[in-house]
Amino acid sequence: MSKPKVFVTRSILDAGLDIVRDFCEADIWSGELPPPREVLLERVKGVEGILSLLTSQIDDEVMAAAGTNLKVISNYAVGYDNIDIPAATRRGVPVGNTPGVLTDTTADFAFALLMAAARRVVEADVYARAGKWRTWGPSLLLGQDITGATLGIIGFGRIGKGMAKRAQGFDMEILYYSPNCPPDPYAAEIGAHCVDLTTLLERSDFVSVHVPLNDQTHHLINKETLRMMKPSAVLINTARGPVVDTEALYEALRDQVIGYAALDVTDPEPIPADHPLLELENVIVAPHIASASYATRGKMATMAAENLIAGLKGEHLPNCVNPQVYG
Ligand code: DGY
Repeated sequence: MSKPKVFVTRSILDAGLDIVRDFCEADIWSGELPPPREVLLERVKGVEGILSLLTSQIDDEVMAAAGTNLKVISNYAVGYDNIDIPAATRRGVPVGNTPGVLTDTTADFAFALLMAAARRVVEADVYARAGKWRTWGPSLLLGQDITGATLGIIGFGRIGKGMAKRAQGFDMEILYYSPNCPPDPYAAEIGAHCVDLTTLLERSDFVSVHVPLNDQTHHLINKETLRMMKPSAVLINTARGPVVDTEALYEALRDQVIGYAALDVTDPEPIPADHPLLELENVIVAPHIASASYATRGKMATMAAENLIAGLKGEHLPNCVNPQVYG
């Protein structure tokens, strides 16, 4: 029997690719960069499944190009803002994602960014490499204490809670923002307080963003909300770049409206090397690597492959973001 045809928009770890190759006739884009739009539209023609990375926009046009054979879209990420979910749902196509397996890895990295910004680790490294370290200095590269400080977590889902768990070890006061403050046993257990966004921004020494990107969260951090933060505040973003208005953030950092930012995600992404943000010393930028551990990327690959194959077999996806397709 012939195997179902699928297009994989970039090569992922073998843990997942081996499963995909066993079950499918897989066309795998092997370029280091994502396939150009016209190539994507061409290569999906007639496929039954698409295994996508967050670097490819899977919108209605792509689904139309795939045609009526399309049975499943499996995204190699927990976030799925690169996929037009209403369009997939209209077409009866289930969309899979990879929640859970990257929670701790991502929270580890968000906390690493918090610490690196607080204690100016990247600036210190640059300073030492530049041969500027001539003696121990009483006021050399002073930073902020983490222990006992207040952490504001915007979005108290799996990764937001992971951040809170880590902050507990540093005796931090934990505030979080979750619209309407639904009762949360974990928050009660660790003594975290749900507050409105203004209170969180005004009171926090560190503000960490953990919301998905959607119409409600686009530019949630903007000129106005940045002005609510303390002048010493540190902003950490490991969610999605467009949750923060980049232009407003640049101005806020330049004019010391806030103290520091540590970003794993940017808008645009990748951020051009000549972007003015990168001229500032009070910002750390990482290239969207918060989930990038060997083990986690392997687990994501397996999950993405399992979602894909379940969809091809007509079974419910183990992790489906639009279960309405099952009626
Ligand atoms: C995700 O999964 O959404 C991350 O941004 C990449 O791991």
